[in-house]
Amino acid sequence: MLQKADYNAAFFVAAALGLFFIGGLLTTVVPPLIDSSWSKPFENSDPANGPVGKLRQLNEQELQGRAIYVREGCWYCHTQQVRTILADTKRYGWRGVDAPISTPDEFVYDSPHMFGTKRTGPDLARVGGKYNDQWHRAHFRNPADLVPGSIMPPFPWIANNEAEFKAMVAYLQTLGRAKDWRPDNDYEK
Ligand code: HEC
Repeated sequence: MLQKADYNAAFFVAAALGLFFIGGLLTTVVPPLIDSSWSKPFENSDPANGPVGKLRQLNEQELQGRAIYVREGCWYCHTQQVRTILADTKRYGWRGVDAPISTPDEFVYDSPHMFGTKRTGPDLARVGGKYNDQWHRAHFRNPADLVPGSIMPPFPWIANNEAEFKAMVAYLQTLGRAKDWRPDNDYEK
């Protein structure tokens, strides 16, 4: 059969398309059939815990922050997905706690999603709660002041516009909070 694919272009194309189709089915259609919990919103058993540790829809201010994230192209450089590899869970953990791997049920309200494709900067899927307002303001003004050698461009127009800054940071603070993975380790206000 392999030899046939070598000599017969039509057979090769048909076989390639067939294999591609099977791959597509196995990665998109089959997983939600096997585990339907992934297409439902992430449930947390302790709603009393407030917004942290509970998946919820973004409020108006957070949505505005998300729009700024899109407008400024933060997603050109930042992903929002902790992959199933040790390097990711260690790198995006915080104060000795490993970051949980991203699961589909965390993203049901995230449309269009901001998974991103390129990591010029660090992944932001678990950045919520790591840094306070002051840090974010200084970082938007000039990232290299806080992280020597940083190649993130300065965004002074965000740092200096109170409404935009508040919205942007409110959005960033929501990222990755549904899993409530380090409740006692938040930034100091
Ligand atoms: C040209 C690429 C680039 C763009 C565009 C960019 N960043 Fe960054 N970002 C980086 C790099 C590189 C770092 C790591 C160095 C640092 O912390 O400054 C970083 C770090 C960060 C961090 C700290 C992450 C951590 O875990 O320490 C945050 C938060 C952040 N960026 C948010 C943003 C936001 C919000 C935007 C859009 C307004 C943005 N970035 C746009 C490259 C970029």
